[in-house]
Amino acid sequence: MKITARANSNIALVKYWGKLDEAKNLPATGSLSLTLDCFTTTTTLIPIEARQDMLVLNGRAAEGKAAERVRNFLDLFRARAEKPIHFEVVSTNNFPTASGLASSASGFAALAMAANQAFGLDYSAEGLSQIARMGSGSAARSIFDGFALMRAARDFNDDVFASQVHAHADLDVKMIVIRCAENEKAISSTKGMLHCANTSPFYKSWVQDHATDLDRALGALKSNDFATLGEISEHSTLKMHATMLASSPGFWYFAPLTIQLMNKVRMLRNEGAQCYFTMDAGPHVKVLCRAREANALAEIFRAEAGVLDVCIASPGPGARLVSEEVR
Ligand code: PMV
Repeated sequence: MKITARANSNIALVKYWGKLDEAKNLPATGSLSLTLDCFTTTTTLIPIEARQDMLVLNGRAAEGKAAERVRNFLDLFRARAEKPIHFEVVSTNNFPTASGLASSASGFAALAMAANQAFGLDYSAEGLSQIARMGSGSAARSIFDGFALMRAARDFNDDVFASQVHAHADLDVKMIVIRCAENEKAISSTKGMLHCANTSPFYKSWVQDHATDLDRALGALKSNDFATLGEISEHSTLKMHATMLASSPGFWYFAPLTIQLMNKVRMLRNEGAQCYFTMDAGPHVKVLCRAREANALAEIFRAEAGVLDVCIASPGPGARLVSEEVR
């Protein structure tokens, strides 16, 4: 059987940044995200007569770290199913890979969904989320529609997974994704997190403060308090990036355009627009706004010098199977 699954990327409003355990990929901080409708990874698994899996990423045979991560991830399914089958993994993103647009989130969520079927396993959504987390922490959240919550791991044996959060029915959010650069990121999120944990004097307080941000954001989601949700979201991203700046040697994912857009968002807010920025392990700026203001705001961002692309995302669907074909 040839199995195809698709998953969407998600962007965290309250960020996950730090691992309690690297091998198990246990998050040191909880996170709250929004799955987006416009960025997808589509992954097909084709059984092959070979001793190892092969990866074709965006139309090109991939080796090195990317292929190794996929093989290690499929090993989890092979062990569980006790089936020594290998696959050609054909994975395509409809957006730039490894640049802070959460391609690992959609990538591992789609792969988990496809592998569950290909190995004849029967993981629940929570089970899939837990296993997707082993591929990439943020992937655990892309299993679900709309808003998803993943708690921090309490200890080394806590097998964390995400779950869907139902927001207040009147919370009409959009996320404007502003692409600021072409290049793939120089420092992977895993490397960045470990460096912060090892060297940043801000890391401890980042982890300690986190539960309060998460609880307040969840309260805001449920009570349709958009302003509080936006404020916490900006606060969370700025604190996360501050741990990077304070690490030794310090590093940052911001480009000059990132800062320009942060200023723009603050300026627009001073003029009455309801919009809040968030950035991940890359230069792009994502702006949380009300649905009714999204088009007008997107036009303003499109007109900023240097902006490559602007997309208005709505809350998107969770990971799903797309097709099964007998070869
Ligand atoms: O799970 P990873 O390795 O994609 O790390 C995600 C880290 C951030 O995107 C910066 C924050 C988050 O919660 O998505």
